[in-house]
Amino acid sequence: MIQEHAEYIQKLQRIVAARLQEVCADTAIDSLYAPIVDALTNPGKMIRPVLTMLFCEATGGTHQQALPAAVSVEMLHTFTLIHDDIMDRADLRRGRPSVYATCGADQAILIGDTLLAMALQELSLSKSNPTVLLRDYAKGLREVCEGQALDISFETRADVSLAEYEEMIELKTARLLMMSCSLGVLAAEGTVAERNLARSCSKEAGLAFQLMDDVLDVTAGEEFGKKLGGDVIEGKKTWL
Ligand code: IPE
Ligand code: IPE
Ligand code: MG
Ligand code: MG
Ligand code: MG
Repeated sequence: MIQEHAEYIQKLQRIVAARLQEVCADTAIDSLYAPIVDALTNPGKMIRPVLTMLFCEATGGTHQQALPAAVSVEMLHTFTLIHDDIMDRADLRRGRPSVYATCGADQAILIGDTLLAMALQELSLSKSNPTVLLRDYAKGLREVCEGQALDISFETRADVSLAEYEEMIELKTARLLMMSCSLGVLAAEGTVAERNLARSCSKEAGLAFQLMDDVLDVTAGEEFGKKLGGDVIEGKKTWL
């Protein structure tokens, strides 16, 4: 049973990767697009797009129906990582030099902005509920920015409470996971109640996800694809 689920998730990951390849084929390879192609064709775990497609299916739709939103969410997530690595002065991402390390902050800002624009273009291919989809998407992105703002402001504070930490990780991480699930429900023309249900269960998963990411910062080492202890060096107020 678990094996079957794993294989199904791999199938969805391959569908997303194939669409990302198509998106990349559409760009001229120059100083702006080469790092974008590199980032999109060296994907991570693809948790968010898989969630979008699974929640679409759970609401009675097909994963194909959710594909533009799913691919767009993965592009949006990759954009947040490019800018996150500038903010966190992180040289390593997914086991390779980050865009920030390779191109410098000035270029990495522009490359991230371009990828965000490309993510919006991909979202615009969605057929169901386009207005609500865009509203949810924009709200989710703003919340990530709000969480990132708190994350930065906590670097220079020594008295951050657990409640403040929880608010910060809910915004910077859980809200994007919640949005990923909610977009899947929307792609299947689901009800408000179904969206609320998707959001509430993915909120808990999103908080747990960031807690685990914080732990892995000091326990995982290079196989995690990021610099060991990067959060400690930057003075991040993580769960630890
Ligand atoms: C990294 O997300 C950013 C966090 C919210 C911790 P992931 O761990 O999902 O990154 P990739 O996409 O698999 O590399
Ligand atoms: C990432 O938090 C949150 C976003 C990218 C919005 P982290 O800064 O902990 O993510 P990693 O550890 O660099 O992937
Ligand atoms: Mg970071
Ligand atoms: Mg960060
Ligand atoms: Mg982290």
